[in-house]
Order: sequence, then structure tokens, then C-alpha cells
Amino acid sequence: MAQIIDGKAVAAKIRQIAAKEAAELATPPGLAVVLVGDDEASKVYVRQKERACQQVGIVSKMINLPATTTQQQLLDVVEQLNSDASVSGILVQLPLPQHIDEHTVVCAIDPAKDVDCFHPQNVGKMMIGLPYFLPCTPAGVLELLRQYQVPVKGADCVVIGRSNIVGKPLGVMLCNMGATVTICHSNTKNLAQKCAAADIIVSCVGKINFIDPTMVKEGAVVIDVGTNRGADGKLHGDVQFEAVAPKCSAITPVPGGVGPMTVAMLMQNTVKAAKNQQKQVDNI
Ligand code: GUN
Repeated sequence: MAQIIDGKAVAAKIRQIAAKEAAELATPPGLAVVLVGDDEASKVYVRQKERACQQVGIVSKMINLPATTTQQQLLDVVEQLNSDASVSGILVQLPLPQHIDEHTVVCAIDPAKDVDCFHPQNVGKMMIGLPYFLPCTPAGVLELLRQYQVPVKGADCVVIGRSNIVGKPLGVMLCNMGATVTICHSNTKNLAQKCAAADIIVSCVGKINFIDPTMVKEGAVVIDVGTNRGADGKLHGDVQFEAVAPKCSAITPVPGGVGPMTVAMLMQNTVKAAKNQQKQVDNI
């Protein structure tokens, strides 16, 4: 039977270390979270981030803007946060309303405060293996693999999903660690076959029950990044957990797997940003 990877416990450990480091700083770290509009899922995520900030000793600044906010108004808010010394990290919750260009907004964030690691400068550094920040969800996945001593070097990894937030950066990070990575997506041929050959499967698809036991090799590690709200109102991953778990050596549950790690890594990045800003280290 598979080891159940306890993301809640690992995330608590990460938050505890972040809290200790935050307490050692002359000025507490600050995280600004900007939410435009009232997307229900985004509101839940933003609340989780606010709660984690309180636990860690990060001053959270929640900025709720109406869905009618113009791109220029949002850029003005970002600019103010860039020059606010009490703000160590800035996170603009995605997705943004359709009339706002995400790329323009992400590029306006000071790379030294880009705790999401979405700015092209930070993405580039991560890509060449010299990261400043690491993106939160991929970093959370890697931390789980590390804590559970899953060998990555030389492993055959299948990442399903090619988003800029999770799939693509995770593929690059696994590759930088010496894994052989296949990034699959909706146009991939013979997906089941590719998954069935993998030592590690990471699913970031967004479809309930997408991964069935025929797609999983005996002894594989399965990481479920899916967060899908079911008709039952509950949170479900992409993986048929009950059927797949018996074949795995380790597997993440949903909830309680990757989800809490994303928020914990955000706390870690925010403390890192504050540390560097307070040391006035210009290494970006
Ligand atoms: N929307 C979904 N995930 C994320 C994330 O990690 N960061 C931001 N800013 N928006 C998101």
C-alpha cells in the first residue's frame, strides 16, 4: 500500500521555519495580495494566504478591486506597492478579468517582490537553474518529493499540464534536477501509455477522475495538483485516489496534499524577499 504524502504536515513545518526567520527580521515581512473582481475560487485562495500570513508573522495587505478596474488603475496599484518599503512581496491573483492583460501586469511587478515567480526575469533565472524565487506550486511539489525521499535524479517523470503557473516550470525544475521529463497536455498522443511508463506522475489537469489505475505503473509516485470542485461541493483531485493508491509507492491526497504546500512556499518566498530587501542585497 502506498505511503500517503502528508502535505498538511510538511506545509506546517515549512511555515514554522518561515515564522522563525520572520521573527528574526528587524521589520516584519509584508505581503500584498491583489484580487480583482469576485471569482469565488480566487477568494478562497486569497483567504488561505491571509490566514497563513497571520500564522507566520507576515503583515498581509489585502487589496480588493472591483471587476471594472481598468488595466491602468491596476498598474498604478502595482507601482505603489513596488515603492512601498513595508511590502516585501506582491501577488496579483490570477486569473484577471478579460479586459486586463496578465502579462503586462506581471511584468510591472518589481522582480525583487515577485513572490509568485511569474516575472520573465525570475522565470528565466529559474529556467537556467539559478533561481531567485521558485514558483510556489512547483516548489511545493519538489519539497514533498524531497521530504519523502523520492529519487528525482534519473527518474522518468510525466507532468500533465503545460500552464505557466505549474506544468511548464515544474517540468523545467525536474529537468534541472536530472529527471527525464515528458510534459503532456490535451494534444498529447498516447497519454495513458506515457503515464504508465513513468516513475513519477504529476497531474495538473483540472479534471476529476482523470488518472485511472491503468495509467499508473506499479510502484510509481503520483502527485495530484488538481483542485476540482465536485457536484458534491467537495474538493477533488485529478486522480482516482482509491483505485490508484494501491499501485503506488507514494501518493498525495486531495485535499491535504499539494494545496497547503503552495501557500507554505509563498510564505517562504515572502520571508526570503524581506530578508534580501532588509539586507539590501542587490543580487537580482
Ligand atoms: N491563481 C492560481 N494559482 C495562482 C498562484 O499561484 N498565484 C497567483 N497569483 N494566482 C494564481
